[in-house]
Amino acid sequence: MPIFPEYVIKEVAEKNDIIEVVSQTVALKKAGSSYIGLCPFHNEKTPSFSVSPRRGIFKCFGCGEGGDVIGFVMKSEGISFHEAVKKLAQRANVQLPETKSYDDDLAEKKKEKRELLYMINKDAAAFFYKNIKTSKDAIDYFKKRELDGNIVKYFWLGYAPESWTSLFDYLKEKGYTEGDIYDAGLIRRHESGRYYDYFRNRVMFTIFDVNGNVIGFGGRVLDDSKPKYLNSPDSNIFSKGKNLYSLNVARHSKKRTVILCEGYMDAIALIKSGYENTVATLGTAIGEHQAKILEKYFDEVVICYDSDQAGRNATNRAIAVLRQSGNLKVSVLDLKAKKDPDEYIKTFGKARFEAMFQNRKPDMEYLIEYFGESYNLKKSDDIVAYISEMVDYLKLIKSSVELDVYANIISEKTGVQLSSIISQTGLRKSGATTSVIGGNADVINVVNKGTVANDSKQYLEKTRALLLSTLFYDRKLCEKYLSMLDESMFENSLHIMIFRYIKECMENGEKVSNISLMAKFNTNDEINAVSGILALDVQSDDTDKAVKDYIKQIKEKGGAEKAYELLKNNKITLEQFNEMIKNKG
Ligand code: CTP
Ligand code: MN
Repeated sequence: MPIFPEYVIKEVAEKNDIIEVVSQTVALKKAGSSYIGLCPFHNEKTPSFSVSPRRGIFKCFGCGEGGDVIGFVMKSEGISFHEAVKKLAQRANVQLPETKSYDDDLAEKKKEKRELLYMINKDAAAFFYKNIKTSKDAIDYFKKRELDGNIVKYFWLGYAPESWTSLFDYLKEKGYTEGDIYDAGLIRRHESGRYYDYFRNRVMFTIFDVNGNVIGFGGRVLDDSKPKYLNSPDSNIFSKGKNLYSLNVARHSKKRTVILCEGYMDAIALIKSGYENTVATLGTAIGEHQAKILEKYFDEVVICYDSDQAGRNATNRAIAVLRQSGNLKVSVLDLKAKKDPDEYIKTFGKARFEAMFQNRKPDMEYLIEYFGESYNLKKSDDIVAYISEMVDYLKLIKSSVELDVYANIISEKTGVQLSSIISQTGLRKSGATTSVIGGNADVINVVNKGTVANDSKQYLEKTRALLLSTLFYDRKLCEKYLSMLDESMFENSLHIMIFRYIKECMENGEKVSNISLMAKFNTNDEINAVSGILALDVQSDDTDKAVKDYIKQIKEKGGAEKAYELLKNNKITLEQFNEMIKNKG
């Protein structure tokens, strides 16, 4: 959360030469266009720590630490972003806008409090986990639901004992105060002033945020009593509308498609079956905030809700919310049988689920059929109602081609003229119909199973990284070649984010900057990885030719690799494969 405006942070970074700053603590020697030295972040005898003055980036190829000048000060002095900016501003005489020290203090305190609440919740998770061993009911329950020891460990499942204060006592024993345990959402206060455990005699599902902090729990009864689930109350760290169950797992998937389901058990069953790209909402309908989060990590959301009426209604709502968010392809996996994904996989097996997955329908196609079944399209008043229902969804389409495609299907289905359906949507007149998404999600989605030799894959990844880092620092080349690139040429989510960032800057006529790019990433791992990409330098004097070569290689090799994977997985025929290979290059 930047407290200073971005322009100030950029100025601070620009006025602090990274070589000068790093030299205060590390002895640097010039080596080509960079400087090298012994890494201050790990013990080493030969230098693998490199700093590029032109790019303003440091990177250790030994331990992986990397970042910009502000990141260096943060890491080497162990201080916050805010403090590092203040320090560097002072060093370079940059005037910082007035910020009240009271606010700084409060921000720090809030952060500390959050860390404390994470810790309490983590300890609670360990307590619930430990309790399984001594509860036969819990063990039987996990068995009944086919959750073996590994799954229990992986998902941090647990058991809250049938007791009023066992967790409360355990956490007090650890040294936490009543107030903090209460703020962590783990106890309730009785009128008499006594506290008691929030979760009792329930199977516990630990909920993590995207960075892997424990932020809350879902607790399920072991029988049919009500309420079936009890979730942690919203708190300083937990918000049902802003988090998604198992996103901490799914975000690391190579797949660009995410399966969205309703329940904890559904997410677990799917992840267990090889769909690590699965998330679940936390007992509320999906909201705009969650759509934005999914958009950050994925290209396509496959809605896979329960097949009862509630699930179907929720599917329609989810389509609207996800579509509105803008940049996501939305599709529906309709399980048809009266089941949720967990039961479906247990009853019919993985193979049949995979077939259903492959057969998922684009959202609009799904809706056309769904509403088509609830109206009698031989009756005129039903046709009117049907079209009015569909128009609400057609309005959410951002591409004029797509609008035409679906309006055409509806027109054929009902006999109503295409033009009158389109005019109902009111879209054409406003002219607000431009194509939104590039990239072929079906192709990107192909699972990498190591069919193509690993080193060729690594080589290709390196080429992609080199291409991005070269374009990042060379605006002329960027102007010349950017239009030849599209998102489907990249697989790694960091690459895609960097590509999107460059494209955005070019489109808005803005300068790319390390600072604004880094601000898009949350974790140290990501920042280190991005620094690694930006630190890559072309080993050629003719960068123009190098870039041309990179693009050619990515198009050819990347295309061939994808086609080969599709063929291997029986997603295309040999003829289609040959066709794809022919068209590359
Ligand atoms: N849920 C909730 N409160 C309830 C019921 C449900 O918060 N009283 C949320 C939970 O997150 C749950 C999801 O809604 O995972 C889906 O509910 P449901 O389909 O009833 O449960 P399942 O996940 O299918 O659980 P199970 O298979 O254990 O019955
Ligand atoms: Mn279920």
